[in-house]
Amino acid sequence: MGNTYYELKLKINPLMEDFISEIFFENFDCDGVILAEETYKDLEMIDTTEGTLRVFLEGNDTYEDLLYDIENILDLSRQEFLDRGLSELELGSWEFTLEEKRNEDWSVKWKEKWDVTHVTEKIAVVPDWIEYQPKENEIVIKLEPGCAFGTGTHQTTQLCMKALEKYFKGGTVADIGMGSGILSILAKKLGATYVYGCDTDETVIDVAKENATKNGVNVLNNPIEGSKELKEFETTTHPPLEGGSKSTISGWGKKAQHLYVKNNIKLAKNLRNNATEPEKILWSYLSKSQLENIKFRRQQPIGNYIVDFMAPREKIIIELDGGHHNQNDNITYDKQRDNYLKNCGFTVIRIWNNSIYSNIEGVIQYIKNIINNPTRKSEIFTLPQGEGISDGCQFELGSADKVTEKFDFVVANILHFVLAEIMGDLKNIMKENALMSLSGILDEKKQMVLDAIAREDLTIIEEIHQDQWTSYVVRREK
Ligand SMILES: C[S@@+](CC[C@H](N)C(=O)[O-])C[C@H]1O[C@@H](n2cnc3c(N)ncnc32)[C@H](O)[C@@H]1O
Repeated sequence: MGNTYYELKLKINPLMEDFISEIFFENFDCDGVILAEETYKDLEMIDTTEGTLRVFLEGNDTYEDLLYDIENILDLSRQEFLDRGLSELELGSWEFTLEEKRNEDWSVKWKEKWDVTHVTEKIAVVPDWIEYQPKENEIVIKLEPGCAFGTGTHQTTQLCMKALEKYFKGGTVADIGMGSGILSILAKKLGATYVYGCDTDETVIDVAKENATKNGVNVLNNPIEGSKELKEFETTTHPPLEGGSKSTISGWGKKAQHLYVKNNIKLAKNLRNNATEPEKILWSYLSKSQLENIKFRRQQPIGNYIVDFMAPREKIIIELDGGHHNQNDNITYDKQRDNYLKNCGFTVIRIWNNSIYSNIEGVIQYIKNIINNPTRKSEIFTLPQGEGISDGCQFELGSADKVTEKFDFVVANILHFVLAEIMGDLKNIMKENALMSLSGILDEKKQMVLDAIAREDLTIIEEIHQDQWTSYVVRREK
């Protein structure tokens, strides 16, 4: 970094922050951006759709050259957004000022203005560097949002927080677009067992994890789903099973069978090399005959299946299941597979991935009890799901379309047109009778979201307003 840098202040709609920031990261030597939330906090009575994006650019160009480039790039990008159907209001005015400044530690400067936010009587958001004495029964969320959205000062975040406080009665929560992780942390503090958060911005994942840890929330490490490759293989590549017979592969010629077995072995090897986190953890307890002196193999092809762990001599199989195994198609498929393995004389023990994280000792004991049962036959055992529910938050890159579990409560604070686009995916991750808080909706854009709610057959429980923002609490009936 040289002695000077440039600070650009650009008037935007705060919910377009990600898209607009990207313009600077792509086209300029950009050191960082800050959405000056205090600006629109101060501007509550003027126009809450206008936030100020502060963009910090390296001082390599002359002022005139940089100004020229910024004007050009902003003109082009604005036109692109308009062509994609966004309105002037959705973008904000994009009026800007550019100043050359002497270098100072700007990354900590913004902190000076951020104070304790009392979202409701019961919920306070406290910047990490402030000493705060909570009132009796007050929920305190300690935050350092970094560059992620979600300090608790924005109306759209507060609307979700209010909905959680009022409607969440326990169980599991999905936080789609978790930003700083603020809503996930609140859900945990309101008694959620397991919270899953995802975001399409990879830079926020670690921020959310750090914030959760600061608040004493257990952070679960990695994705709970099984290997994508295995899932795809299981649903698309395997030939149909014929009545549990080990040797007959219906409709497949000899050559195809040979190719299939070869592929099977290759895939098993691949799976071994790309073990999921729960597989690695369980393997650390099973490998080298540690468990009751039994020799287990990993990713073992059996007939036209690949099983996670197998002890050939004792005829034991241990399978790790992600949330997708809970769904109807997969339940049927798992049953077929279990029956086949049972008919081959195996005892199949099914374990939920979640319980590997939350209760590995319990899992090991459960496996030992089954193995040591003298009357054990070829049977299917499933660790009861209640015992498999993790206690903690899990954050990962992605969006609702990649999630295969279903939740008791969903929160999604994302710009209205994104909500409208992904409403079907959001509905898919709700359990029957689950509630969802939808926020990020400008009053004048609410029809777009209302149409999507109607399209997905969701029932509106409450419409809540704060300044120019609308939010909905909806229920999935079935
Ligand atoms: C307005 S912020 C909300 C942050 C935080 N949940 C809160 O309420 O303060 C929206 C977040 O959603 C993310 N996002 C945008 N589109 C998304 C999508 N389709 N799926 C998941 N996350 C998305 C953004 O990266 C951003 O972090």
